[in-house]
Amino acid sequence: MSQKDSSRALSTTQIEDLEHRARAVAANAYAPYSHFRVGAAVLLSDGKIAAGCNVENTSYRLTSCAEQSAIATAVAEHGPSIRIRAIVIANLNGTACSPCGACRQTIREFASSGTEIFYPLADGSLERSSIDALLPQAFLLEEQ
Ligand code: THU
Repeated sequence: MSQKDSSRALSTTQIEDLEHRARAVAANAYAPYSHFRVGAAVLLSDGKIAAGCNVENTSYRLTSCAEQSAIATAVAEHGPSIRIRAIVIANLNGTACSPCGACRQTIREFASSGTEIFYPLADGSLERSSIDALLPQAFLLEEQ
């Protein structure tokens, strides 16, 4: 996808491809404690895609969520200037899975004005949202 295309609404095919990738990477989740396997696929503004899954820890709070893993992978593979065009979240448990508060803050860090966030609802449909809707009045560190 070209830079110009990044301002257009995502096509159904693009969304389905990202959902497919999110589901595929969720199969690699390390979730022996919750058994809740989550995957996230991030489409960057230049068309590149990165994916990640949740990685739990016996010290529970050290767990990495799928969204955080995907964004960390995107930065590692494509550098610190990435911007998120869209992120699709999936889980293999067939339940609703909106991004947790910490993930919303992480998405916000790399969001652009048109960033779209897709996550499954309880009825299996994919909700389309924005970072402003999910994280209103986000914290920003003002320059001194
Ligand atoms: N989890 C995610 O990967 N993303 C979220 O936004 C919410 C929760 C993971 C963390 C943990 O491994 C499991 O789901 C249950 O909370």
